[in-house]
Amino acid sequence: MNQKKINIAIDGYSSCGKGTLAKQLAKFLGYKFIDSGSMYRAVTLYCIKKEIDLRDENLVSIALKNMTIGFEFNTQTERFEVTLNGKNVESEIREMKVASRVSEIAAQSEVRKYLVSMQQKIGKDKGVVMDGRDIGTVVFPGAELKIFMTASVEVRSERRFNELISDGKEVTLSEVMANLIDRDRIDSNRDDSPLRMTEDYKVLDNTKLSRSEQLEIAKSWALHYINQN
Ligand code: CDP
Repeated sequence: MNQKKINIAIDGYSSCGKGTLAKQLAKFLGYKFIDSGSMYRAVTLYCIKKEIDLRDENLVSIALKNMTIGFEFNTQTERFEVTLNGKNVESEIREMKVASRVSEIAAQSEVRKYLVSMQQKIGKDKGVVMDGRDIGTVVFPGAELKIFMTASVEVRSERRFNELISDGKEVTLSEVMANLIDRDRIDSNRDDSPLRMTEDYKVLDNTKLSRSEQLEIAKSWALHYINQN
């Protein structure tokens, strides 16, 4: 495709399939897909491993200087996987020990400043689909297409539970549901860059949509904006 490239922001609640859609859309357009949540998870993992008190914003911000977060492309999964000081931590960051603390870390302004600036560098030449909580509001406020995804909490919990089980993680459905509800509450109520929908988002509720149905909708939105450029 030699049309002008755009950036696509996909935001929404925990586990509503943002990553799945972002990956499908990026593949269709020949764009790069970046999961910004994996970066917050990597910072959390580092602090847990180093036994840093996660509530101490000062210690966490000092720790940022000792970590290098990057991405490497996995040709099998066809996605950029997150690396922490050179090691691929894509699977480890999905564990409940990280999920249960990540929203505390993500509420800290120094952490957000550090990661947002990395994310903006990744997107400066356009051609990026990035998913998260503040991509359309803070990271790429000028993104040509902004999608806000949502689904019922039951459907989201079940999807995430199945994902974790098939990846060999030991979790229960109620533990997963409690974590999603908790993260949604913290993510929506924090002072710095809370999850919120502004009127320039297109809403995609995928409670009753299959993966291919949601892709068709998003593709038509993306092509509309690409052809306008
Ligand atoms: O995949 P899931 O929806 O479970 O979450 P994630 O995208 O991996 O993000 C994990 C956590 O990182 C979220 O619950 C937020 O606390 C935080 N996050 C954020 O604050 N801003 C982003 N742009 C992305 C994630």
